[in-house]
Amino acid sequence: MLLSSIARRAAPWRAGVRIASRAAVLPSIRTTRFFSHQKDSDLKEAAAHNDKPPRDSVGSRSPPAQTAQTSESATSEAPNHPPKEELTPLAKHIRDSIKIQGPMSVAHFMRQVLVNPLSGYYMKGDVFGTSGDFITSPEISQMFGELLGIWFLVQWQNIGKPSKVQLVELGPGRGTLMMDMLRAASRFKDFRKAISGVHLIEASPGLRKVQRQQLCGIPISEEQIGGGASLEGITSAVRPDGLEISWHDVFEDLPGECSLVVAHEFFDALPIYKFERTEEGWRELVVDLEEELSSPYHFRFVLAPGPTQASRAFAEHPAYDHFKPGDRIELSPDSFRVANEMAKHMNKHGGSALIVDYGKDHIQGDTLRGIHKHKFTHVLTEPGKVDLSADVDFEYLKQATEDLVDCHGSVTQAHLLHSLGIGARLNMLLAKAAAHRRETLISSYHRLVDPKEMGNVYRVMAMTPRGSPTPIAFEPQQPALPTEPSLAESK
Ligand SMILES: C[S@@+](CC[C@H](N)C(=O)[O-])C[C@H]1O[C@@H](n2cnc3c(N)ncnc32)[C@H](O)[C@@H]1O
Repeated sequence: MLLSSIARRAAPWRAGVRIASRAAVLPSIRTTRFFSHQKDSDLKEAAAHNDKPPRDSVGSRSPPAQTAQTSESATSEAPNHPPKEELTPLAKHIRDSIKIQGPMSVAHFMRQVLVNPLSGYYMKGDVFGTSGDFITSPEISQMFGELLGIWFLVQWQNIGKPSKVQLVELGPGRGTLMMDMLRAASRFKDFRKAISGVHLIEASPGLRKVQRQQLCGIPISEEQIGGGASLEGITSAVRPDGLEISWHDVFEDLPGECSLVVAHEFFDALPIYKFERTEEGWRELVVDLEEELSSPYHFRFVLAPGPTQASRAFAEHPAYDHFKPGDRIELSPDSFRVANEMAKHMNKHGGSALIVDYGKDHIQGDTLRGIHKHKFTHVLTEPGKVDLSADVDFEYLKQATEDLVDCHGSVTQAHLLHSLGIGARLNMLLAKAAAHRRETLISSYHRLVDPKEMGNVYRVMAMTPRGSPTPIAFEPQQPALPTEPSLAESK
């Protein structure tokens, strides 16, 4: 009955409209083998198109050793070839940087593409939903955020009901998850009273405004969120219920207080490095200028001719000695650092954390993807216009927490939501829903938990204080117990 009184909100997507999540459409590229006649990004295109060869794959293997290309011809048009794609402002910036400094790491390219202050992908504001590029679980149904709110309520009880606790979210997007969590929390007076404030870690000034509108009801105009027009980000606002929302650039800036932390589809947006095992050892895959006139793109992946700082620092590790020539790995030192900061904070101040993302409990090789308008794209196309993300290695995050906290999982999203009673919650919503909304509720439920949708691809890991009770959904050997909604009864 915990959920019976949680307020209703119309699901923001219409029945029958399929909107791509960033993970669910990536079925079959879980290999670290390097296909010698394809470029890295071509592997994604092949996977996304049922392994039909991509149009520029034949004979386009990146040469093993390249230096920076400095010729203007990289952007020129050639007769009998389609013209190169539009050079975005960010592509110009990246091109000039490569001309001066040589090929750049994939991590640096990804950071520029996503959060470059002037024209990074997230800097333009709202990129979610039907009119954006992809959809995420909180945007699919209110049930997702409400149930995560309940997980944190129980965690607050598990850690002894501290009288002051702050809610923290990394990469809050539109602010929908936090809004649904807060609405769930507001039904439990003691818990709500203990919440001293909400802290959002958000790089994008445009999205900060979207979040303020969602959480505090302060309107934004198109002009304010568009094109990175406003560079100074909001740092605080107060909700009508008196709760203060604060924005921070990095996790390290959080006040030192017991924290309940959620990160949904945040770690997949953090930069990764890519490495390939060769007969000579690990070599870094880097981004260089594409001079092939037959390619529409301005950039391509090449293999560094010798060891780089990054390959020495990250890939040359006994844990990766078993990989064979041709194998690739992706590593995100930024993710390691953030997970370590979270664990240190929790170790010092107490709290709990949930990390929800697509990924695996082991390292992978070729998961970096580009997505634009609900379709996969070439990873290096139109920098700044295309979202980039890579699967999360949950085991790597666990290693980053050392012995500072207890780590749990990962378990599937379906397991978490079933453990929290999503079937029962759906039935409650169906019982009160108008006929036209039922179909949407049911399809949202399936989208969140079905193994072929987001149920298995998305996984969840938890951090709790050392020695505290095992959190809901992470009990050992507990099978996922779907509480099938009684759809027939509710009609
Ligand atoms: C894929 S979106 C997920 C949004 C939201 N959690 C959801 O599930 O709907 C990634 C979010 O992380 C933010 N972000 C990406 N990189 C970041 C960084 N380096 N520092 C802070 N925020 C970042 C983006 O601006 C965006 O809000």
